[in-house]
Amino acid sequence: MNTIILNGSPKGTKGNSEIFARQFIKTMKHPCEVKYIAKENPQQLAEFVRNFDAIIIVMPLYVHAMPGIVMKFIEQLRPAKKGQAIGFIIQAGFPETAHERYIENYLRLLAQELNYTYLGTVCKGEAAGTYMKPEFMNKKLFKQLNHLGRIYEQTGAFDKGIKEKFGHPYKLSKFQLIFLQQLEQTGIGKIGWHKFLKANNAYDQRLDRPFL
Ligand SMILES: Cc1cc2nc3c(=O)[nH]c(=O)nc-3n(C[C@H](O)[C@H](O)[C@H](O)COP(=O)(O)O)c2cc1C
Repeated sequence: MNTIILNGSPKGTKGNSEIFARQFIKTMKHPCEVKYIAKENPQQLAEFVRNFDAIIIVMPLYVHAMPGIVMKFIEQLRPAKKGQAIGFIIQAGFPETAHERYIENYLRLLAQELNYTYLGTVCKGEAAGTYMKPEFMNKKLFKQLNHLGRIYEQTGAFDKGIKEKFGHPYKLSKFQLIFLQQLEQTGIGKIGWHKFLKANNAYDQRLDRPFL
C-alpha cells in the first residue's frame, strides 16, 4: 500500500514521534515517505495526501488530545478517495493508555465520517523519555516498532499482538497507584521538571496561578 507517514509533533524531527515513525519504517523493504505537519501548510498537505492509498499519523498525546497542528490539518481533510485508509500511532507520557481513550474514539469516528477505511489507533504509554534513553533501554520498544512496520508493509494492517502489548496497562492497578503516590512524596518525580524549568529561567514562577 502506498502509504504516507505524517509526524504530528510540533517538535518535528526532534521529538519522540520522530523516533517512533523512523523505527516504524526502519525495516520495511520500501520505507514510506515521512512528512512533518509542523512544516507544512495544512491545506496543501491535505491535498498532497490524496495521492496515497493510506495515511498514518504518528503523534504525541498533548493534554489528553492531539496537538493543535494535527487538528488544524484534520480540519482540511476532504472525504477519502475510494478505498483510502487512515491509521494513527499515538505515544504518550503516562504509562496507562486509558488516557488515549477520548482521542481514540474521536479518530475512529473521524475515519468513519470521512469514509476512510480505519486501520486503527496504536497507543503506547510511558514514551516521554524515549529520546533520552540509551539505545539498550529502547531495544525492546524499537524491535516492536520495527515489527509493527514490517507487518504493516506486508499486510496493510497493524499487528494485533503488538497493538495489544502497547496498550498495556490500560489502567494502573491499586498497588501501582499507591506506589506512585509514595514515590511522588519523595519529590523524585519533580527532578526532571525542575531541571527544565531552571534551564528556561522559569523555576521561580513554577507556582504562579495567572488565571486566578
Ligand atoms: C504540552 C504537553 C502536554 C502533554 N500532555 C500529555 C497528556 O495529557 N498525557 C500524556 O500521557 N502525556 C502527555 N504529554 C507527554 C507527551 O505525550 C510525551 O512526552 C511524548 O513523548 C511527546 O512526543 P513528541 O516528543 O513527539 O512531541 C504531554 C507533553 C507536553 C509537552
